[in-house]
Amino acid sequence: MCARIFAANWKMHHGPEAGRRFIERFRELVQPAAGRELWFFPPAASLAAVAGALSGREDARAGAQNVHWEEKGAFTGETSVGIAREAGARGALVGHSERRHLFGETDEETRRKVAAVLDAGLAPMLCVGEKLAEREAGRTEDVVLRQLDAALSGLAAAALDRVLIAYEPVWAIGTGRNATPADAAAVHSVIRARLTALGRKAHGAVLYGGSVNLKNVLALLAEPELDGVLVGGASIEPDGWAELISAAPPG
Ligand code: PGA
Repeated sequence: MCARIFAANWKMHHGPEAGRRFIERFRELVQPAAGRELWFFPPAASLAAVAGALSGREDARAGAQNVHWEEKGAFTGETSVGIAREAGARGALVGHSERRHLFGETDEETRRKVAAVLDAGLAPMLCVGEKLAEREAGRTEDVVLRQLDAALSGLAAAALDRVLIAYEPVWAIGTGRNATPADAAAVHSVIRARLTALGRKAHGAVLYGGSVNLKNVLALLAEPELDGVLVGGASIEPDGWAELISAAPPG
């Protein structure tokens, strides 16, 4: 069993100063606990400030919300994994549904990004999930498995073991409508079986994301298939985020 993971995806909230103040306040409210790992994904410009503010907290890591797969070059507006790492990132989200559906990120791009993050020695947190129409058409498994295969096939077992997965049904993100614990668990077990088929040896974390909040986090995490949560809206304020984490026992 791995540590229970609580990951905060701030999306386009909190500049460097607000991010630093957030972490300062959060550190007062939440102490390290065995069996619990915390991730913060701030906007790129706030990464260094947040990583710096977390220094000394072995239980907490900063990560990038998005990276480019090339090391450097003429890619205006992009952040390489090396630059993110220098700013303090220990990992990166890859394939978040907002990247896929608002910015047109393709399966092939997620594959390149996962590989680049792994090559740099960081942890990719690969997000997968179906849209509402896909769920209603009974295509959830197909979509999730296609996204997993596209991003991960060809990786060596040792690399696969370092990939974190977040199952985030698109219809549940930012909508207030979360998957039931049983629905999430069913998809998680499909994901886990595929990871094993792809060669994964370790029990790697599979997180759930999509309208996780103080009211539903306990029920979701009561499902043994869920190793943690990736949270957007409910992670934006330090007191609320601290309350959510404190409500759920560590793993
Ligand atoms: P939400 O976002 O918690 O606001 O639904 C989750 C995410 O996008 O990772």
